[in-house]
This record gives sequence, C-alpha cells and structure tokens, in this order.
Amino acid sequence: MQVVETDITDLRVDAIVNAANETLLGGGGVDGAIHRAAGPRLLAACRALPQVRPNVRCPTGQARITPGFDLPAHFVIHTVGPVWEGGGEGEPELLAGCYRQSLRLALENGVRSIAFPAISCGVYGYPLAAAAAIAVRETRAFASTHAQPARVVFCCFGAAAARIYRDIVDREA
Ligand code: APR
Repeated sequence: MQVVETDITDLRVDAIVNAANETLLGGGGVDGAIHRAAGPRLLAACRALPQVRPNVRCPTGQARITPGFDLPAHFVIHTVGPVWEGGGEGEPELLAGCYRQSLRLALENGVRSIAFPAISCGVYGYPLAAAAAIAVRETRAFASTHAQPARVVFCCFGAAAARIYRDIVDREA
C-alpha cells in the first residue's frame, strides 16, 4: 500500500480508478483528466456500456472496467462515489462499495497494481480523512483474503491529502 502525490494519469500501473458519475460520459476533476489522457476511445467505450436505467451506466457504489487506451495504465476502472450529504444517507457504505467493487473487478481482470484517487473528495464533497479511512480499511480487508492486486497506490492531488492518507496508512499498519 503506497501513497503518492501525482497526477493519476501518469501512473504506470495495470489499472487506474476513475471517480466518475453515473452516466460514465466524463466530467471534470479526475474524470476529465483521465478522459483527456486516455483519448476519445475511452468515451466511446463508456458510451457502449449498457445503461441500467436511463442515463445510468454505473450506479453509485458500483464499478465498471474499460481499456485504458492512450493511458500508461492498461485498464480504467470507473466507479461512482456518493455525493456527501452529511453522512446520514448511506454515504460511508456506498463509498466502501466503490473500493470493494473496484478491487473485485481488478482481481477478475488479472490486475496486479491499481491506483485510486480520493473518490468523492472533490466535487462530491466527502470529507477527506473519513473517505481515506474507508479507502484504507476496505483495501486492507480485501488484501487479507486476496493475493491480487498486490500493489495498491493511493494517488493524492496535493500535499495535504497525501499527509492525511500517510497518517491513516501508518496508524493502522
Ligand atoms: N490525479 C489524481 N487525483 C486527482 C486528479 C488527478 N489528475 N484530479 C483531481 N484529483 C483529485 C481531487 O483533488 C479529489 O481529491 O481526485 C479527488 C476526487 O475529486 P473529483 O475528481 O472532483 O471527483 P468526485 O469528488 O468523486 O466527484 C465526481 O466530478 O468530475 C466529476 O464526472 C465527475 O460528476 C463526477 C464528479
């Protein structure tokens, strides 16, 4: 389990995780950065994914996988985090699901190294420390029963986020 401070689109891992929205048709933040770096084929691949409801290709708390196209990463795992509503609307369980489902898809696709951004901690407003604690807890739980992905990277945008993640990773080691 590593904490790095960089742009997730630069990471040479088997899969990077995208903090997407339920349409899977792109957006701002890390979603925008990943689509820009992956090229237009990523949007085409997302558009081709089946809608489970009108305009919903990936419900909140679930994950979908596509190729990484022009990215260094071989796959993009798109997951949709909850919008923070104060904590009483099931946000912690939904966010935990994002990590569990992303790791499950990674395992099923032979992914050995995966990088996560701080899902829901930007536009969706989830408090970073609480979200990072869920990220580390769910990753540790998955690793306790699965050998892969063997390498998990928490990719932070900025020193403050990296410090929070490092404190949590070190504290619960
Ligand atoms: N690399 C790594 N982390 C990044 C990058 C990047 N290039 N760009 C942004 N981040 C960080 C943000 O600083 C934040 O900590 O990713 C985290 C998630 O922020 P958002 O990208 O805003 O994602 P989220 O809060 O989950 O909101 C998702 O935003 O972009 C739209 O389409 C997306 O509607 C969806 C919503």
